[in-house]
Amino acid sequence: MKYLTILGATGSIGGSAADVLLRHADAFSAYALVGHRNHQRMLELAYALHPRWVVMTDSAAAEQLKGRLPEGVQLEAGMDAAIAMATNPSVDMVLAAMVGSVGLPAALAAVRAGKRVGLANKECLVTAGRIFMQTARECGAEVVPVDSEHAAVHQCLAGRAHGLVSRVILTASGGPFRDRDPATMHAITPDEAVVHPNWNMGAKISVDSATMMNKALELIEARWLFDMPPEKLSAIIHPQSIVHGMVEYLDGSVLAQLAAPDMRGPIAYAIQADPHLTSDISMLDLAKHGRLDFQAVDEVRFPAMRLIKTVLAGHDSLAITLNAANEIANQAFRDRRIPFTDIVRVVEQALEAGEDVSVDALDDVWSRDHEIRCLTESLITNL
Ligand SMILES: NC(=O)c1ccc[n+]([C@@H]2O[C@H](COP(=O)([O-])OP(=O)(O)OC[C@H]3O[C@@H](n4cnc5c(N)ncnc54)[C@H](OP(=O)(O)O)[C@@H]3O)[C@@H](O)[C@H]2O)c1
Repeated sequence: MKYLTILGATGSIGGSAADVLLRHADAFSAYALVGHRNHQRMLELAYALHPRWVVMTDSAAAEQLKGRLPEGVQLEAGMDAAIAMATNPSVDMVLAAMVGSVGLPAALAAVRAGKRVGLANKECLVTAGRIFMQTARECGAEVVPVDSEHAAVHQCLAGRAHGLVSRVILTASGGPFRDRDPATMHAITPDEAVVHPNWNMGAKISVDSATMMNKALELIEARWLFDMPPEKLSAIIHPQSIVHGMVEYLDGSVLAQLAAPDMRGPIAYAIQADPHLTSDISMLDLAKHGRLDFQAVDEVRFPAMRLIKTVLAGHDSLAITLNAANEIANQAFRDRRIPFTDIVRVVEQALEAGEDVSVDALDDVWSRDHEIRCLTESLITNL
């Protein structure tokens, strides 16, 4: 039996992971489920999965679970408890699926403890990719992507020499506003932005997909995950979300991974790649789809994809700025404090104001992250 800790168990990825675990209850079991505030969802998960531990990082949410968990399931509260669950010697694998850079300490602790880490929480690599992957190498931790695009690339790279790669290509659906008249984009509401045409995801990543900031974050994620120089990273619009990622080799051949858009596929792959776990995703019927379309990314419609070029060409501080400013601006849009088109505008202003310097220590990551969050709040106030 292998034991997993799921960080962000109460979210969308956490729900898909629970489904995969239940399908393979003979081989995998939840050691700990970690949520933040959604105690109602945690209660359902605790009864379904019977973990040894439940942790709510919000102590008021943990209070709500007292005396209500199934017999034998123990309760803890706070981020330190989450870190303890990610590093416990009984744990074989950690699924990092909190949202935002708040997930970095627990995911990094898992890496330091040498765990296999299934990484959905891309903000960890955007904020501290160099430190995260270096720690993984030093501590013998295996970091396996959960993002569907990176899981696809991981499969297309398997067993092939890194030096033979000419390009890594991430596909992007283009989100709900791929064909929307740019002149009306300022009027987009949070309710419209959180509805993705192909994927059912949490609110923050759905808005990131609508601005295409998600693809910008994923390019930085790919840079560290696959140790690829920025000039070998690219993105292409593929509205059907059937081809998830491609690797172009120096001989001109391109390997692609195709599957129905269902996160249970990449999660199952991250939990165990060899042999692949089944996940009950529907089988592809390409004849039924009939066609697969591709188009270049329109940087005027999606200015986040223009900004990412500057970020990838610069030092690590720019990625910290991009991520922190985006987390604040994305939330401000969902709180109806700024219009949709100001999300990327505010991020651009933060990038113009922030420094372009290398960041080698974790303390520096946190101080910059904090500084940029404050700066972005003041930019929003002064819009
Ligand atoms: N959803 C997808 O299909 C998908 C695909 C690829 C990658 N990802 C990535 O996976 C991560 C999770 O995405 P998601 O869609 O599952 O998000 P989500 O549905 O919003 O879930 C986020 C999870 O993080 C927890 N959380 C929120 N704030 C927290 C805090 N301050 N401290 C500790 N935990 C906190 C939430 O807890 P509560 O709900 O209990 O408050 C929840 O368990 C993101 O980084 C996203 O980019 C998601």
